[in-house]
Amino acid sequence: MEELIDIIEEANYQYHTLDAPVISDYEYDQYLKELIELEEKYPNLKSSTTPTQKIGGVVLDKFNKITHSEPMMSLSNVFSDDELRLFHERILKEVDSVTYDLELKIDGLAINLIYENGILKTASTRGDGLVGEDVTENIKTIKSVPLRLREAVSIEVRGEVYMPYASFNKVNEEKTKLGEELFKNPRNAAAGTIRQLDSEIVSKRGLDIFCYTLINPQDHNLNTQTEVLSFLRKLGLKTNPHTVTKSTIDEVIDQIHKFDVMRHELKYDTDGVVIKVNELDLYDQIGYTVKSPKWATAYKFPPEEVETKLLDITFQVGRTGVITPVAELEPVLISGSIVSRATLHNEDFIKALDIEINDYVVIRKAGEIIPEVLRAVKEKRNNTTVFEMIKTCPSCKEPILREEGEADYYCINPNCPSQQINKIVHFASRVAMNIDTLGEKVIEQLYHAGYLKDIKDIYNLKNHKDDLITLDRLGEKRVSNLLDAIEASKKNTPDKLLFGLGIRHVGAKIARILLDEYGSIEDVMNATKEDLLNIFEIGDAIASSVVRYFNSDYAKELIFTLKELGLNMTQDRVLVKNKENPFFGKTVVLTGKLEDFTRDQASEIILEMGGKVTSSVSKKTDFVLAGSDAGSKLVRAEALGVTVLTEEAFKEMIDRE
Ligand code: IVH
Repeated sequence: MEELIDIIEEANYQYHTLDAPVISDYEYDQYLKELIELEEKYPNLKSSTTPTQKIGGVVLDKFNKITHSEPMMSLSNVFSDDELRLFHERILKEVDSVTYDLELKIDGLAINLIYENGILKTASTRGDGLVGEDVTENIKTIKSVPLRLREAVSIEVRGEVYMPYASFNKVNEEKTKLGEELFKNPRNAAAGTIRQLDSEIVSKRGLDIFCYTLINPQDHNLNTQTEVLSFLRKLGLKTNPHTVTKSTIDEVIDQIHKFDVMRHELKYDTDGVVIKVNELDLYDQIGYTVKSPKWATAYKFPPEEVETKLLDITFQVGRTGVITPVAELEPVLISGSIVSRATLHNEDFIKALDIEINDYVVIRKAGEIIPEVLRAVKEKRNNTTVFEMIKTCPSCKEPILREEGEADYYCINPNCPSQQINKIVHFASRVAMNIDTLGEKVIEQLYHAGYLKDIKDIYNLKNHKDDLITLDRLGEKRVSNLLDAIEASKKNTPDKLLFGLGIRHVGAKIARILLDEYGSIEDVMNATKEDLLNIFEIGDAIASSVVRYFNSDYAKELIFTLKELGLNMTQDRVLVKNKENPFFGKTVVLTGKLEDFTRDQASEIILEMGGKVTSSVSKKTDFVLAGSDAGSKLVRAEALGVTVLTEEAFKEMIDRE
């Protein structure tokens, strides 16, 4: 059995990691078959790292959470050569000279792998960066992920799991046959696959990996990112072959443009180049922001442009009554997904572009997400219709208005169905009250059935439980999930509620600032314009809008009713960002497990107090907050003489028992 394992592992490595098969598929299948038979016959001799696990077969009912030993950060982006030069100049303010390692930015999802004594122990997703999901069983099925390294080392590695085009096309072909909804692009397909609870399905989806990060490289005497990558390769991990080092920024830029041409030949999706300082010992000196390292950035490739036909222009009514014209396009594939609609913003935008219905238009995806119309192809214009703005609301048929100096038309009928529905959609959305099961379709259905006409009705739905169960597509289970999610939302912090109200100019950030300042919705409601203008981040437009909103009888009534219904209106702690508080302007590193807080919560508190949370300890670190099982960061803090806080001390500093 051991002999078979060695042969199969080596064959896997040659085929999937080095892309250079040594034995035929037939031979491989024979060896695997023999090993499976022996394992069935002698189950107690089955190795814990047997390659037969690559077939999958474990079915979970949910994924457990895994707290990352170091946060999984994201990368800053640059979109042009000039922006990249600025990135380089910022680095040269901190250090004298650097060289760069350039890697392709693979469009997949980041995964953290932990090997102990050479054996794969866990694999987790990025999650919120601090806590991810345990997807070990799924990752084990990826052929290029070794279950056993070529040396018995204990390491933590990060890489990108992705779906090559060939696998993506195959999966979508099967989905077409089954009449299922297709994956939009390879990244979605990879992410959706990794979240499968049945690892056998995962094993058939043809995922792959490229590893690019090693945690604590100094433990292995590695000095550069290039050395890290060869170290990973030597251990049998798969790394991307298109990696180069460059010593001047001009060479870097030149290479990026070469990559941009070459990437179209690749068998997988890339969305940019990652530029990393090659010298690892400079990382701490260059530093980190809360979200990303300052020693690396992603150069995003300019978005692809394609031509398609403008079939029609339709209109949407937003929650504020704003009327937005929408381009209905002949569906086209662009940057990996199919686009059939794009916003045209307003009447002036359409006039400025001079586009007509039936024109051929050039579109692209800005930031690879939102499609936009760039121009009409006038040479091809034939049989077109000139665009005319509508005069009445497409939803309620009332006349629409455009005020002096405004670009948008508004429907000012407060009872307009589209407005009301979209208002509730926004309130329940993930970024606001996060009522998971209350999506657009359900809201529309409940609106038309008469149960949900306004925000406050959400919290009265529980009085109609028996009726709701009888509605199409709802049923007992879904209704009870829905009502649970609604109840849970009452406990949200009040900034979510304030944001959910959809007050003009009050985004998520401003809602937080207002509640940090006032502590409760009612106090925000009673603030005068002058009070509001005293807050640094609040200008005239926001202050006027807040006062106008809360002056309306509708808002007063709504807030009163929501309070009666039991929604949380107060911030349980008002942390004032002032110079006296102990974390103001301080840099803190978290390590180990805390008893009373998740890492997320602790970071949030520090941020709210005006501090900064970074991932690695340097001379510039003010505090290391160490929980139980704190590892190398604690050692480093002690070596550098950085103040170490226990959880008790932390609680005292934030004034909480
Ligand atoms: S290094 C501090 N290298 O891009 C983060 N990331 O926007 C260090 N990615 O979360 C990441 N290819 O999922 C790195 N060669 C590469 C990458 C890469 C793709 C992803 C990764 C990361 C995201 C950042």
